[in-house]
Amino acid sequence: MADYETFTHDVLVIGAGGAGLRAAIEASAVGVKVGMVCKSLLGKAHTVMAEGGIAAALANVDDRDNWQVHFSDTMRGGQYVNNWRMAELHAKEAPARVRELEAWGAVFDRTKDGRILQRNFGGHKYPRLAHVGDRTGLEMIRTLQDHGVHQGIDVHMEHTILTLLKDGDRVVGAFGYDRERGRFKVFRAKAVVLATGGIGRAFKITSNSWEYTGDGHSLGYQAGAELIDMEFIQFHPTGMVWPPSVRGILVTEGVRGEGGILTNKEGRRFMFDDIPENYKAQTAESEEEGWRYCQGDKNARRPPELLTRDHVARCIVREIKAGRGSLHGGVFLDISWIKSKLPNGEDYIKRKLPSMYHQFKQLADIDITQAPMEVGPTTHYVMGGIRVDSDTQMARVPGLFAAGECAAGINGANRLGGNSLSDLLVFGKRAGEFAAKFAQEHSLGGIDAAQIGETARRALEPFDRGTTAGESPYQVQKDLQEMMQDNVGIVRREDEMATALEGIDALTERAQRIGVEGNREFNPGWHTALDLPNLLTVSEAVTRAALERKESRGAQFREDYPDKSAEFAEVNTVVWKGDDGRMQIRRDALPEIREDLKRVIEEMK
Ligand code: FUM
Repeated sequence: MADYETFTHDVLVIGAGGAGLRAAIEASAVGVKVGMVCKSLLGKAHTVMAEGGIAAALANVDDRDNWQVHFSDTMRGGQYVNNWRMAELHAKEAPARVRELEAWGAVFDRTKDGRILQRNFGGHKYPRLAHVGDRTGLEMIRTLQDHGVHQGIDVHMEHTILTLLKDGDRVVGAFGYDRERGRFKVFRAKAVVLATGGIGRAFKITSNSWEYTGDGHSLGYQAGAELIDMEFIQFHPTGMVWPPSVRGILVTEGVRGEGGILTNKEGRRFMFDDIPENYKAQTAESEEEGWRYCQGDKNARRPPELLTRDHVARCIVREIKAGRGSLHGGVFLDISWIKSKLPNGEDYIKRKLPSMYHQFKQLADIDITQAPMEVGPTTHYVMGGIRVDSDTQMARVPGLFAAGECAAGINGANRLGGNSLSDLLVFGKRAGEFAAKFAQEHSLGGIDAAQIGETARRALEPFDRGTTAGESPYQVQKDLQEMMQDNVGIVRREDEMATALEGIDALTERAQRIGVEGNREFNPGWHTALDLPNLLTVSEAVTRAALERKESRGAQFREDYPDKSAEFAEVNTVVWKGDDGRMQIRRDALPEIREDLKRVIEEMK
């Protein structure tokens, strides 16, 4: 019998980034009792890595913007495999969510006449990103946290969830442990919202910090939810590449939004060399025109640095592979050049990009007002995740909801920058609302002692083996990250991904032999061991889905199938856990898009 403490809530939210906080606020506003569990300290979330802004068609800077343009930009960015209903809800509801955040105290940058300022970002036709310098995600978390703490949400910080508890088909709570003392906890709940973020730690180079090991994806999968679109991993074009200890840390797209340019070691602005057909009409033909666009000239077209992330990342890889990269294996991102255009350019850079200025000064000893940055792609975001109902955010498992990065649909094959923050707000709110409704309509379910006992037994196994007999959790994690980076990265091939699947099998066996020393208190080796099953599950899902999609689309680039294929134009890949415990995969046809939305897309084209 496992020894554990029990907490009871109506709605349990797992994850405390933007989606989790917004869900908790909404559920709590309805009057149900809300508990929130987070792996780290409250406020430490990948949400803060969305630095450059929240995408919402407020039309404060360009009055031609509206939800229809935002919707069609999102669909085009996602290469039309998005869930169109989610893209519609997102585009329509994002402005209200941003204004609400402002009313709760978020201090946005302002236009001259006092409205929320919006900046340019890749793939967005008009300046659409409401921002707070380059610290937008941080301000959003601060605001939601301040608002949430006054609503009486119970917060359980530094807790890891090991399994979702089920009563028959229904999810009725979660079982986990506190990371400080290692004590087991049962959280009973009438409804559970997963908002755990992404899977970046499955790769070696990533903007994600240690928490992002695919926990929500894996918990949902193990509980019977389906995962869709897992092949689509977003490699943000600009992460730091030097020094090695900071490799992967994000360099916001806001740098390019403010006029930053990408060059290779020959000083060539290589983004002009390859402009996709469907973006040609919207892309500047000269450097001068691109700069005018960044300065707000409505007749100018966007510079090629503001093409979608998948494309920019691939162009950077092409330069590096062709030997035209920088000394440390990246390319150059230069914002200092705008001093030749703006008399007060240095101050402008420091004001618009304060975090980037400090980040490079402190971590790389580079003054970005004087010299270019060295940058390269970094694993940033997963478009795939738990399949949910577009309106309610409920998974196919009753009582289980998901929002934010661990849910899927809105982004299709590629997410536009800034759409994540608005996604967290729009669908976090919806998940909270419908989870509360579900909780009001259901009573607490029964708890299965055998499920808890078995999970606790397995969690403690690494201690029996110790470090002399067992594998090192750190080594297994490192080997997995390197293998995924090398074989299922930006450019993919069937043979390499087949190697990855064999590698995942071998690593799964090694993970079962892991040993850790010491006891349950403050034991990072043990925590790493317990993260591994999640990392292995999501790595397998990504690899199987990427093998299944025999084409290149959005974030998935297959060297062996370099073009889009009609066969995959209207399908999602779906993985789920079969009755035999093995991962299954199939393709599902996308639902037919509503006529009025079809017309919106056609008109925008
Ligand atoms: O580049 C950025 O500031 C990231 C934004 C995002 O991922 O949405």
